[in-house]
Amino acid sequence: MAGAPLLSVERLTTVFDTASGPVTAVDEVSFEIRPGETLGLVGESGCGKSVTALSIMRLVVAPGRITGGRLLYRGRDLGALPEADMRRVRGAEIAMIFQEPMTALNPVFTIGDQLAETLAVHGRASGRGARAAAIDLLDAVRIPDPRLRVDDYPHQLSGGMRQRVLIALALACRPALIVADEPTTALDVTIQAGILALLREMKAAFGLSLLLITHDLGVAAGICDRVAVMYAGRIVEEGPVRAIFRRPQHPYTRALLASMPGVPGQRLTAIDGSVPAPGALPAGCAFGPRCRDRFDRCATTPPPDYAVGPEQRAKCYLHAPAATGVPGPPTHGPR
Ligand SMILES: Nc1ncnc2c1ncn2[C@@H]1O[C@H](COP(=O)(O)OP(=O)(O)OP(=O)(O)O)[C@@H](O)[C@H]1O
Ligand SMILES: [Mg+2]
Repeated sequence: MAGAPLLSVERLTTVFDTASGPVTAVDEVSFEIRPGETLGLVGESGCGKSVTALSIMRLVVAPGRITGGRLLYRGRDLGALPEADMRRVRGAEIAMIFQEPMTALNPVFTIGDQLAETLAVHGRASGRGARAAAIDLLDAVRIPDPRLRVDDYPHQLSGGMRQRVLIALALACRPALIVADEPTTALDVTIQAGILALLREMKAAFGLSLLLITHDLGVAAGICDRVAVMYAGRIVEEGPVRAIFRRPQHPYTRALLASMPGVPGQRLTAIDGSVPAPGALPAGCAFGPRCRDRFDRCATTPPPDYAVGPEQRAKCYLHAPAATGVPGPPTHGPR
């Protein structure tokens, strides 16, 4: 997809200060999201997906802090914005959908009031206009009988309907980018499919870009244009969705795909070993100790990004120009 990126994340690093010292949860993460594009951020629990999302929104709180990198939104450095300006960016430019719809909604206000409040805060509508706009939004996210539902409290709605309300809240200020952190994980499989279909539809209707965070490769395959695979705080592979699924180039991506259920005729392969604890990463490639393809060099220095296909990169020495000999230069250097 052509065009300037909507969001560029450049070497983002986020650290948590713990009793045993600083722990790097997000380690020099770089990616771009272009207008109208869906990027999937996938990886196992604890790899840093949510911290990446919160960092983009500048919502990381102590003991966490962003220690490095840049976040460029439409070319503007988000890290340099005063908090008041950043508040306007949140919602009006970049909206976030959280995993647990019940905790993200306020139980003591009707969903109509919550939508109206969001519209009012961003100067989109007020009074009767806000109520009408709230009903339109509920209608847009395919909530049946929106005129009646607008006066419901969150607990009167099913989980799937609550997630639709959260999507309506995210859409309220017509953002250009939605960051959705595991938007379907808490839902039944059939409800999940409906929410994913809705996200796809909203994306087209509102011309949105989407950063979709999921640990489910099947979800990513169904909705993403590109996929970035995270492991222990780093993006180890990134590329167009078809390439990631058909020609994965990082051993971790291959192992993840092999452990994915539902591939006909394929046996489920669990990945040997476990994810290293943040703060206790091996010196070289973080996946090295679990990797069947590892060799000496993997244990010394973390690999940089190597170009492994059109718009595809992987942090793996298997792709270094001279994989087994003298270290060769990376094809396009670390990002
Ligand atoms: N409040 C905190 N204090 C200390 N460390 C934290 C804190 N929050 C997150 N971390 C560290 O950041 C790492 C990444 O956490 P994150 O929530 O981003 O994982 P995730 O990929 O979203 O996982 P999941 O799939 O379970 O949601 C964790 O492994 C943890 O070590
Ligand atoms: Mg998470």
